[in-house]
Amino acid sequence: MVESESTTKVNVLMVGTGEYTTGYVGGGAADSDKGAGVVALTMFDLRRRNKVSRVGMCGVNGKKFAGIRSHMQKNIGDVYNDMDLTCETFPEDTVVDPLAYEVAAKAFYPGDVAIIFTPDDTHFAIAMNCIQRGMHVMVTKPIVQTLADHQKLAALAHENNVLVGVEVHKRLDPFYADARDRARSNLGDFQYMYAYMSQPKHQLETFKAWAGKSSDISYYLNSHHVDWSEWTLAGMARPVRVTATGSSGVAQSRSMNTEDSITLTVQWENLNDQKTLGCAVYTSSWAAPKSDVHSQQRFFYMGSSGEINVDQAHRGCTVATDAAGFASVNPLFMKYTPTNGMFSGQGSYGVRSFENFIDACCAVNAGTAQPRDFDDGSLATVHTTMQGTAILEAGRMSLDMDGRPMDIQYDGNDHEPIAIVPHVFTG
Ligand SMILES: NC(=O)c1ccc[n+]([C@@H]2O[C@H](COP(=O)([O-])OP(=O)(O)OC[C@H]3O[C@@H](n4cnc5c(N)ncnc54)[C@H](O)[C@@H]3O)[C@@H](O)[C@H]2O)c1
Repeated sequence: MVESESTTKVNVLMVGTGEYTTGYVGGGAADSDKGAGVVALTMFDLRRRNKVSRVGMCGVNGKKFAGIRSHMQKNIGDVYNDMDLTCETFPEDTVVDPLAYEVAAKAFYPGDVAIIFTPDDTHFAIAMNCIQRGMHVMVTKPIVQTLADHQKLAALAHENNVLVGVEVHKRLDPFYADARDRARSNLGDFQYMYAYMSQPKHQLETFKAWAGKSSDISYYLNSHHVDWSEWTLAGMARPVRVTATGSSGVAQSRSMNTEDSITLTVQWENLNDQKTLGCAVYTSSWAAPKSDVHSQQRFFYMGSSGEINVDQAHRGCTVATDAAGFASVNPLFMKYTPTNGMFSGQGSYGVRSFENFIDACCAVNAGTAQPRDFDDGSLATVHTTMQGTAILEAGRMSLDMDGRPMDIQYDGNDHEPIAIVPHVFTG
């Protein structure tokens, strides 16, 4: 097979053409905090900066591409100078093909990169296909929905010697990264954590194609803080039991069969001599009112010798305009406002998350690094994120079994759970 054409640049295939990739939802811009999207804008900018070569985009319904192109022209091409929007698209404009990703992956080469932002239940099949073709793969959270699929993905990534990672950009947020370092250096053993993350209830409409059918709000949002815990507690503690509860009413009133909020209560076991216990409570909701932020996101962490609070939604910056009213803004995530006509968001963690992955793929292609080198916590690799998948799957299992606790089992390796089983009450 032909190898990727260069070791200093890579070709990129984006799979998924929706809100996070292009900002295009249905008939136009997403009613969210990212009308210009994140992935395509970042890839065009990386191409402008000579890190990316070919750019491709693959969806299911080719008839959407005319709208997507004009949306990107309006939100990217007309906003920033020197932004080339050239992009190969799959399937063709008249074709609807749920397997277009197979055709698209064949148009790329081993060593190229696939970036997958599609509905949660499609990640596994698309990622397996791209890995089998020797591509490096970055998948949005949740990487997959079951521990068994995660294990298969990790095995195939290892076999093909490619880099497979999860896009969890909060790891690049300076506040979250600093909280992690503090927790690991001087807050002692894990004691307690609560995390909350929300979406406004009008997003139920945006997500109606999959909400309650193929995924839920816990997979969608708890995945962020669950990942922060796994990253922070690596080598310090491991999750051993998950109990989930939900609330209902808002989605049901819109004929959607899904929970409005989901709370996962997770028992973590410290890897100290006494095997002391810590408890984390992760809540996510898509029944929130419209407010000054699109998404509330905050957590409190307590160790045996200290605690820390992070409010990711309120960074001390508010904006009010006649057009859009009052808002708390977070340019640390995506800085969309141009500087002298140029895109200037390269320091934002929404962008850096992708750039770090692209740099790592270039290093692997150049032979200066091996995929497993990034298992040291510098990237969220498929090999170091299995606990997170186990927690999310155990949460879904617990909800489906009327709140029964689920045990996460290990076999010698604290990073890689081997199974999830319903808890058996004794005594
Ligand atoms: N929207 C966000 O803010 C956000 C943020 C981070 C991560 N994500 C994640 O990104 C993923 C997609 O989210 P989104 O908001 O962009 O969704 P979306 O519904 O706006 O878009 C989904 C896209 O996937 C495509 N798709 C579906 N099945 C496909 C297939 N078989 N092959 C190729 N493409 C296929 C659809 O055509 C559509 O373009 C989800 O896993 C979500 O958790 C979203």
